[in-house]
Amino acid sequence: MKVLVVGSGGREHALAWKIAASPLVSALYCAPGNGGTAQLGDNVPIAATDVQELYKFAKQNRIDLTVVGPEAPLAAGLVDRFTAGGLKAYGPGARAARLEASKVFAKQLMRRHTIPTADHRVFTHPRELRAHLQRAELPLVLKADGLAGGKGVFVCHTPEEAEAAVAALMERRVFGTAGEQVVVEEFLAGQEVSVHALTDGRTLAVLEDARDYKRLKTGDEGPNTGGMGAYSPTELLQGGGFAAVEQQVLVPAVHGMRREGCELRGTLYAGLMLTPGGPRVLEFNVRFGDPEAQVLLPRLRSDLVPLLLAVIEGRLEEQQLDWDPRPAVTVVMAAAGYPGEVRRGLPIAGLAEAGALPDVYVFHAGTRLEPGGEVRTDGGRVLAVTALGPSRAAARERAYEAVRRIRFEGAIYRTDIGL
Ligand code: AMP
Ligand code: GLY
Repeated sequence: MKVLVVGSGGREHALAWKIAASPLVSALYCAPGNGGTAQLGDNVPIAATDVQELYKFAKQNRIDLTVVGPEAPLAAGLVDRFTAGGLKAYGPGARAARLEASKVFAKQLMRRHTIPTADHRVFTHPRELRAHLQRAELPLVLKADGLAGGKGVFVCHTPEEAEAAVAALMERRVFGTAGEQVVVEEFLAGQEVSVHALTDGRTLAVLEDARDYKRLKTGDEGPNTGGMGAYSPTELLQGGGFAAVEQQVLVPAVHGMRREGCELRGTLYAGLMLTPGGPRVLEFNVRFGDPEAQVLLPRLRSDLVPLLLAVIEGRLEEQQLDWDPRPAVTVVMAAAGYPGEVRRGLPIAGLAEAGALPDVYVFHAGTRLEPGGEVRTDGGRVLAVTALGPSRAAARERAYEAVRRIRFEGAIYRTDIGL
């Protein structure tokens, strides 16, 4: 089979690595890919959101399976276009991708199907939102309705923070039309956990759980980022927690979507807050998490390709998932300045040495492969360094051992991942 992976981050390198390991795969392409995917197959210089060019490429090259990493091409209708043209693509169509692309849609679906989540209200005018905030008790959480690259959420503890969020979302429009509607949500306290499931619209295959670290700095300080590390499994859902998440959240979401005429095929990712009253949904995504994929995929022993095909073809009930019981930890190495502006093109040393350590996988994110074979930085999150071990502590030790062998100017990483 010829497979195309769409995207360019650490998640896509992990997907490409797992797909390349399948005996079913004879050729692998990545669009646009990064310095890691370039070593597994051919990078194709087409942007992840350029649905028309991707479709043309897939048609001309007789791609048998296209796997979409990020949310933007899903929301832009990549899977609808490919399916209409007789091509197989993994992920939901645009209507079902609204579960991630519109927080208002997701909240309304949860309300209609009594899926536990924070109470909320929707606002479209800054004046009404400000009036509401004056009466309401803080903390509250303000969220842009649309896609904002994980940055559209403002947890507001003070009136000043709330005012800054209103101005940014609705007046300065820092996320453009994504801020036309704003969801105001009850603040939930508790532990966060990510649960992924594959679904063909009817059957669910729930993956092992994971935890990610969204704040930039050690000790959960600093700004929110795309994710600075992750581990899997957690101990948070032991003793019935998994069953509760499946029964109260995942099953009603998948069935609710189908009953409402927008069947969800692909990955359902629930970001959950574990509260004293049970799990409550913070967000739904319709793709693998980044960096959660970088700890989940190395633990998955089953061949991923038949699973993805079963999702597309509605045969998921025939499939079994086999897991490596060993924990995995991934540490993200980012460039100085992240999540703001960063310098690109810095040489990276020690990659081969780190990757040669046992049970270590160095996934590339913002990197590029130079014509001479040298790898340089090419973005904010540069690498996700994953290790497996007999315990989480051992996996963590090994991941940091690998991180210490990798050098580029100004590299930053958290030192508390997996602690
Ligand atoms: P989201 O992109 O919706 O997952 O939100 C990003 C982060 O904001 C989450 O990982 C939480 O840490 C925090 N967050 C989102 N919604 C809430 C909420 N209702 N209560 C408390 N924290 C929240
Ligand atoms: N790790 C969070 C996300 O992928 O949305």
